Amino acid sequence: APLPHVIPTLSQGAAGLQLEQVALSDIAAQFGSPTYVYSRAALTAAWHNWVSALEGRNALVCYAVKANSNLAVLNVFARLGAGFDIVSGGELARVLAAGGRADRVVFSGVGKSRAEMAQALRAGIHCFNLESAPELDRLEAVAAELGLQAAIAFRVNPAVDPKTHPYISTGLRDNKFGVAFEDALALYRKAAASKHLRISGIACHIGSQLLDPAPMAEAAAKVRGLVEQLEREGIHLDHIDLGGGLGIRYSDEVPPTGRDYLAPLLAAMAGRPEQLCFEPGRSLVGNAGLLLTRVEFLKPGATKNFAIVDAAMNDLARPALYDAYHEMLAVQPRDTPPVSYEIVGPICESGDFLGHERALSLAEGDLIAILSAGAYGMTMSSNYNTRGRCAEVMVDGDQLHLIRPRESIDSLFATERVLP
Ligand code: LLP
Repeated sequence: APLPHVIPTLSQGAAGLQLEQVALSDIAAQFGSPTYVYSRAALTAAWHNWVSALEGRNALVCYAVKANSNLAVLNVFARLGAGFDIVSGGELARVLAAGGRADRVVFSGVGKSRAEMAQALRAGIHCFNLESAPELDRLEAVAAELGLQAAIAFRVNPAVDPKTHPYISTGLRDNKFGVAFEDALALYRKAAASKHLRISGIACHIGSQLLDPAPMAEAAAKVRGLVEQLEREGIHLDHIDLGGGLGIRYSDEVPPTGRDYLAPLLAAMAGRPEQLCFEPGRSLVGNAGLLLTRVEFLKPGATKNFAIVDAAMNDLARPALYDAYHEMLAVQPRDTPPVSYEIVGPICESGDFLGHERALSLAEGDLIAILSAGAYGMTMSSNYNTRGRCAEVMVDGDQLHLIRPRESIDSLFATERVLP
């Protein structure tokens, strides 16, 4: 029977929770825990949620690699024809290794190094999204040195409030991101005068986990105004990049569908001939993944009951970092009455929690599925407390693929050296 939860391909089977046709308990038996588990069908469905809403419009969806950069995930999207939004030379290397096309890559980020610029220029990416005047100068110099021409867009800051968590809003006036609207025209004129730069587009991204399309529609209308102003100056663009940001359901949020999110944006751009680009991350992968963890101990406390699990803040940082909520389900339900638990990891910090006051029926050794962990889960994990990072697996129908083995302890310090 389908469950009232957030991952479309998760269901209750004979052996407890299963993702597509694979039992989570089998995954833990084969690969141990904690383990990130992704569903290919859920990735594919999320992709179609985007592209079906863009049918008939000249558009390019560039998956934001930072959300989940495993090569198998990138490869699933590459096979579906995706473009990619990258923020580092490392992410570019991953995209190419996974079979992604360089000419569908946009390069975002405020601090691109010379080496990263050169790497992306040689690869022949679609566009550099520039965020400052000195960045423009640096890119021009690197392109000149290589005798190449860089395709550019300016990421403009539309100064709208995305109404999301302050750590993930990026389009406010006082954010470090983008160039101010009033400075954009002068920057475009400057770029137009350089033979090493080719003006390709304009970009804008206001924040993440957006549950209301209105702020982004407001931003799109502002961007359109600027595009038309540039046009009057004889500066024509090939594309308009409206960023990522579409939110997902973690608990009881009701995010818009791709169609509902895009409708006002498409309306704001009606009649414009430019290609529309988007940079979704979370909405493509967030609810295609979960983190599978096992209860090490149940520890009754003076005021709270703790379930100490084998995953921790180094594996899934979002609860500790943003006080984010991730739904949790016992993989094999028990008949005993549920108890309210603090779900915590083994790390030596009070901030090492994954969930507060979760009513679950648990015993030592039970497995818990932490849902909506496909985005900003593994990519934000660390080795804090010298913990090897999780294994990652992908389910595809009744097939189970190990897409990254658990990190061995040896590998964590294999390159370190003691003094002579
Ligand atoms: N494009 C740009 C320029 C971005 O900065 C981001 C995300 C995206 C696209 C993708 O946004 P999405 O569609 O995923 O909302 N670690 C945080 C989220 C940080 C988002 C940063 N930028 C979290 O775990 O909630």
